[in-house]
Amino acid sequence: MIRFRSFAAAAAAVAALSLGARAQTTLKDAYHGFFRIGAAVNTRQCAGQDAAGAALVAAQFNTISPENDLKWERIHPQPDAYNFGPADQYVQFGEKNHMFIVGHNLVWHSQVPRWVFQDDQAKPLDRDALLKRMHDHIMTVVGRYKGRIGGWDVVNEALNEDGTPRRSPWLQIIGDDYIQKAFEYAHEADPQAELYYNDYNLENDAKLKGAVELVRKLKAAGAHITAVGLQGHDNLEWPTVAQQEAAILAFKALGVKVSISELDVDVLPAANRQPTADVSATAVAAANSNPYAAGLPDSVQQALAKRYAELFGVFLKYHDVMSRVTFWGVTDGDSWKNDLN
Ligand code: G3I
Repeated sequence: MIRFRSFAAAAAAVAALSLGARAQTTLKDAYHGFFRIGAAVNTRQCAGQDAAGAALVAAQFNTISPENDLKWERIHPQPDAYNFGPADQYVQFGEKNHMFIVGHNLVWHSQVPRWVFQDDQAKPLDRDALLKRMHDHIMTVVGRYKGRIGGWDVVNEALNEDGTPRRSPWLQIIGDDYIQKAFEYAHEADPQAELYYNDYNLENDAKLKGAVELVRKLKAAGAHITAVGLQGHDNLEWPTVAQQEAAILAFKALGVKVSISELDVDVLPAANRQPTADVSATAVAAANSNPYAAGLPDSVQQALAKRYAELFGVFLKYHDVMSRVTFWGVTDGDSWKNDLN
């Protein structure tokens, strides 16, 4: 195993891998001692249907996140029906490969069935009933993997772009303290688990301010929040090094760790890409929206490698607060970005 002596050398390893050069070491070993390196895995990888993908994950990464299998609609599709099969396989895959296993996610406005917010007459639930439903879900899911899943995205994407709270059904029915309650229940279900707030675009000023305020309030209320996940759905220009640093430092100042929880770097020109990781956003994609359908020009591949080195330079600079860097998808072929239309 090769250990890099400098941040620059380790950052260069990522650049080399993204260039397809013969790897001198693995990603997880290159960053050993700095932070964990992860990948979001899909059902096929954990089930062994994608053997090449699974082997790549086992070789290169020491932490995994479930791309979809622990989301509410997957694991708890009906009021009295849980679907643990794929999630069980995910956790077993992580254990077999001695990885730090992340749970994604418990409370989100997306990928949550409508029944969650309704009674059996399809009328909106009241605060107490929804809190009970949230509590049951968290106790069941976190409880099942207690001591095995090491950290949970407890609340996902609760903020608008201007930093104000997103008016999700959770907020509208329960009120402002739904986030605090979710952290309380997650801690009750597994007191040893790390607990995270996870969101995108936190490198933008207004949203960063909103998130800082949210974390400050949570801490003041006694919530056991371990880290903030900066999702990292980046592109070649955004975020700037200054924005990336400012976001990391803002949370460091609050005494929480930071992770890059869903990293990908979009190489499409601005006019051709999604402006946001908001899964409800749609862009009208013309048939020729991808100028690189026939292959990525070498100049763009070089720019991508440089960009990875730049970003990892920042992550390494602040490795004292950085717990992990997780790529969202194992290969470009697995990426959610292929499904945008
Ligand atoms: O598995 C079904 C398949 O059976 C069906 O035929 C097909 C037809 O639509 O859908 C498949 O499910 C899709 C699933 O991805 C697996 O491909 C869902 O429709 C689709 O909504 C889902 O998208 C996921 C998205 O979150 C919404 O949950 C992406 O894979 C996943 O990468 C993306 O991840 C999110 C994070 O959870 C939160 N942060 C942003 C990030 C990117 O959007």
